[in-house]
Amino acid sequence: MRVLLTGGAGYIGSHTALELLGRGHQVVVLDDFSNSSPEATRRVGELAGQEVPLVRADLTDPEATRAALEGIDFDAVVHFAGLKAVGESVAQPTRYYRTNIDSTLVLLDLMRERGVTKLVFSSSATVYGDPRYVPQDEAHPVGQALTNPYGWSKAMIEQIITDTATAWPELEAVLLRYFNPVGAHPSGRIGEDPSGIPNNLMPFIAQVAVGKRAELSVFGDHYDTPDGTGVRDYIHVMDLAAGHVAALEHAAPGVTAYNLGSGTGSSVFDVIRAFEAASGVAVPYAVVAPRPGDVANVVANPEKANRELNWATTLTLEDACRDSWAWQSQNPNGYAAN
Ligand code: UFG
Repeated sequence: MRVLLTGGAGYIGSHTALELLGRGHQVVVLDDFSNSSPEATRRVGELAGQEVPLVRADLTDPEATRAALEGIDFDAVVHFAGLKAVGESVAQPTRYYRTNIDSTLVLLDLMRERGVTKLVFSSSATVYGDPRYVPQDEAHPVGQALTNPYGWSKAMIEQIITDTATAWPELEAVLLRYFNPVGAHPSGRIGEDPSGIPNNLMPFIAQVAVGKRAELSVFGDHYDTPDGTGVRDYIHVMDLAAGHVAALEHAAPGVTAYNLGSGTGSSVFDVIRAFEAASGVAVPYAVVAPRPGDVANVVANPEKANRELNWATTLTLEDACRDSWAWQSQNPNGYAAN
């Protein structure tokens, strides 16, 4: 397949591009580099031993996108492009809705114009909101009592894709609900490069370990979990990338949602300990107040993806910590010149 990756220079996009190339597919990366670097795609090409075509365009702009993709053929799309910082989405709701929704609308129109029917969408377990039960399967209610515009935008896009499939029965769409992606390619050449202060646990820990930040704030230790800290289902980004390839290869007419997670929960203290063991570096921390909007326990039931996509995680939290450390210690300033 020749696969267009929107937002393909980002964290998950770059690892997925590499995985697709390794499986014999061709890729085209489309990105506006608002929160990513062309260097990520250059390194994907270096690791894959081939140059990766890169198209710079703002996907919310239909004319610019159409012009940028003129003469470039593709027969499937993985749609990663979008804004993803939960806290920022609360402060800037119109920007989040405009960017995430407009880009999807432009993409769907373009796909229909060109007769491209295969779509994999980068969704999130956040569409389940505050879990009614754990582990969550795909039958868990979606789009109820979500706590931030980022999460709502993901749920709305799932609905937009579903409505589009009703009007266009040839569409073969897969909604991938990611749990907590962590880790990096084992080479340490590509990884997560957050701008500014990391919002997420693993990149924050990595920056503490490398000496860029003094200590980790642990957001609450009185949750109803075994050690009182929040429990999440951490999934290695290479397993996540493999899940996209499986989804593309199994896409069928209509819309199907899959959880991509391991089925195993780890606490904040578990992650700190695993990172310390993998890096050999102490990670100082202080327990502070819970973060507004956080929940105690989010763990995937990944059985549907295991069964239907013939996909399961193969890497552990320890593998993710080792690879995240390789990336962070070799690239303390991310893709910026070190
Ligand atoms: N945490 C800390 N300190 C930090 C950062 C996080 O203690 O500095 C804790 C959180 O309280 C939580 C756990 O670490 O218990 C994981 O937090 P993350 O911010 O890494 O991840 P979240 O589970 O909050 O959110 C992630 C993605 C969202 C996505 C969601 C789906 O960032 O985009 O998973 O479950 F929507």
